[in-house]
Amino acid sequence: MATAWPRRPRLVAGNWKMHKTPAEAAGLARELVELLRARGDAQVAICPPFPALDAVGAALRGSGIHLGGQNVHWEPQGAYTGEVSGSMLVACGCRFAIVGHSERRHGLGETDAMVAKKLRAAQRDGLVPIVCVGETLDERDGGRTTEVLVRQVHGAYDGLDAAGASATVVAYEPVWAIGTGRVATPEQAREAHVTIRTTLERVCGVGAGANTAILYGGSVNAENAATLFAEEEIDGALVGGASLQGPSFWKIVAAAGR
Ligand code: PGA
Repeated sequence: MATAWPRRPRLVAGNWKMHKTPAEAAGLARELVELLRARGDAQVAICPPFPALDAVGAALRGSGIHLGGQNVHWEPQGAYTGEVSGSMLVACGCRFAIVGHSERRHGLGETDAMVAKKLRAAQRDGLVPIVCVGETLDERDGGRTTEVLVRQVHGAYDGLDAAGASATVVAYEPVWAIGTGRVATPEQAREAHVTIRTTLERVCGVGAGANTAILYGGSVNAENAATLFAEEEIDGALVGGASLQGPSFWKIVAAAGR
């Protein structure tokens, strides 16, 4: 069941990856609650490692800042060592789950079919999936960016209707830009976002492209965020490294407010 989610919202999500103990994570969450008191209309989500979800959730309570998981398994429960289900994330207070991050696709063998199952499971369990897509440097240099994005969007969204699609968030994350300091230009991001919107529209029906929030991710920082957000196609950001420091994440969120 897709959860209610506003049409194409502005969203900045911090992906803390495998950083911070529960105590460290709660400390940063408390700092962010203070810093982000006067944020504009941007929605904000924090995705800490699983062991820190409870502590961060407690620190965020009442702040309006959302909590998210960095991954979710498609089964509701069972013999899946090392995995976490959507209902477990919801029980920890999560609103979001990242699915198909490139570090899982390329580092841990996650396939388009697995991403599709995770997307559906997240929605079934009441989460908003943040679905990551993006090409490698080889694919971009080989002129295959569009082909890769179309394949990944098809793989994840085939069978979903427009309402189901717009209850997700897509994150366009070119693999060559993640953690490298090499950010996509607003033009590169726009082109990719248009490809993603057009594909969503074709796969899921009228309105799917226009109504789905598409974030950019890959070396977003306090200095480049405003330029990226000035691009009409970019609805927000999925932020790794720069989300690990209160002041830099705060500046990115401030730049996202409309
Ligand atoms: P980065 O990571 O901001 O450190 O490049 C982004 C991501 O992996 O989501």
